[in-house]
Amino acid sequence: MITILAIESSCDETAASVSIDGRIVSNIIASQKVHEQYGGVVPELASRAHMQNIVPVVDAAMKQSGLGMKDLDAVAFTQAPGLIGALLVGGQFAKSLSLALDIPLIAVHHMQAHVLANLIDDPKPAFPFLCLTVSGGHTQIVKCNAPNDMQVIGQTIDDAAGEAFDKSAKLLGLPYPGGPLIDKYAKQGNPAAYKFPEPRIEGLDFSFSGLKTSILYFLQNAGKSNVYKEEFLVTADEKRSFIDYNLPDICASIQERIISILLNKLKKAAAETGIKNICLAGGVSANSGLRSALQSLGKRSGWNVFIPAFEYCTDNAAMIAITGYYKFLEKDFAALDIAPTARAEW
Ligand code: KG4
Ligand code: ZN
Repeated sequence: MITILAIESSCDETAASVSIDGRIVSNIIASQKVHEQYGGVVPELASRAHMQNIVPVVDAAMKQSGLGMKDLDAVAFTQAPGLIGALLVGGQFAKSLSLALDIPLIAVHHMQAHVLANLIDDPKPAFPFLCLTVSGGHTQIVKCNAPNDMQVIGQTIDDAAGEAFDKSAKLLGLPYPGGPLIDKYAKQGNPAAYKFPEPRIEGLDFSFSGLKTSILYFLQNAGKSNVYKEEFLVTADEKRSFIDYNLPDICASIQERIISILLNKLKKAAAETGIKNICLAGGVSANSGLRSALQSLGKRSGWNVFIPAFEYCTDNAAMIAITGYYKFLEKDFAALDIAPTARAEW
C-alpha cells in the first residue's frame, strides 16, 4: 500500500490531500478570500494566508483520511510553477515533514498535475491522450504518452483563457474572478449577437490579447454611438448603460469566441496527432458553454471526452497526490535541498 500526503500552494488555494494507491481518501482546500477586494491575487497576501492555512489544512486532510502521520510513505508538493512566496510555504512545510518522518519527498510540476487529474476517477483515459488545460494562468494542449511522459504541443502566446474571461469581465465592470459571471450571464444571451474576431495564429498556439482589445473598442464605440437604445434611457436615474442592458448578449458572444478559439486548436491537434482520447483540465473547464461544446464536438468527431470532477479541475492537492503516486512508482524522489521555482521547464 502506498500512502501519500500532497500539498498544493502555488497560487491562492492552500490544499492538502491523502491518497492510498492512487485513490483519493481526503481532499481539503482553503480558498483565500483576501484577494477579492483587489481584483486579482496579491502575492504577498497569498504567502501570508498560506502560512495561516497550511497547518489546519494538512491536519484536516489527515483527519479526513482516518490515517496518522506514521502511515505516510511519502510527501508530495507543488514545486513549480507559481507565485514564489506561495510555493515556498508549501515546499518548506513538505520538506520539514519529509525530514521529520524520514519518508521520501516528491516534487510535482503543477501543470503536469492538472493533466493527471484526469487519472483520479474512473473511467480513465487510455494513453496517449490530449489534454486541453485552461486556467487563470495557463492555456496548453498537452500530449500525454504516460504519467511521466508528456509534451506541450500548443500554448498561449499572451493571455491565458481564464485571463481572457477575467479581463473581459473587468471591462464589463464585473468583479474578479469574472469567468463564472460571464458563464452565468451568457446562459441568457445570444452568442451570435456580436462578432469578435478570431486571431490567426500559426500551429497549435493560442492568443487572447486581441480579443481583449476588440472588446475594449467595441464598448467604447457602443457607449459613444447610437447603440444606446433611446427607449431605455427613460430618466437620468433609470438610465441603463449599454453594458447593463445588453450584458447577457455581450457575455454570450465573448464566451462563444473564447470557446471557438480553444476548440478550433484542439480539433487541429486531434487531427494532426490522430489521438481521439481528449481530456480537459484547469479552472476554466467549469465553464458550462465549453463543457457542452466539447461534448458535442467529441460526439461529432468520434472522440472519447474526459472531464474531471470540478473539485479536481480548479487548483487542488488531489492532483498533486495522484502525480506523486505515479512518481513514487518510478522512485522519482527529490533531494531535501530542492527549492521551488516560479517558472519551470516542462
Ligand atoms: O485553475 P484555476 O482555478 O486557477 C488557476 O489559474 O490555476 O482557474 C481559475 C480561472 C479564473 O480565471 C476563473 O475566472 C476561471 O478559471 N473560471 C471560469 C469559470 N470558473 C472559473 N471561467 C469561465 N467560466 C467559468 N464557469
Ligand atoms: Zn492551476
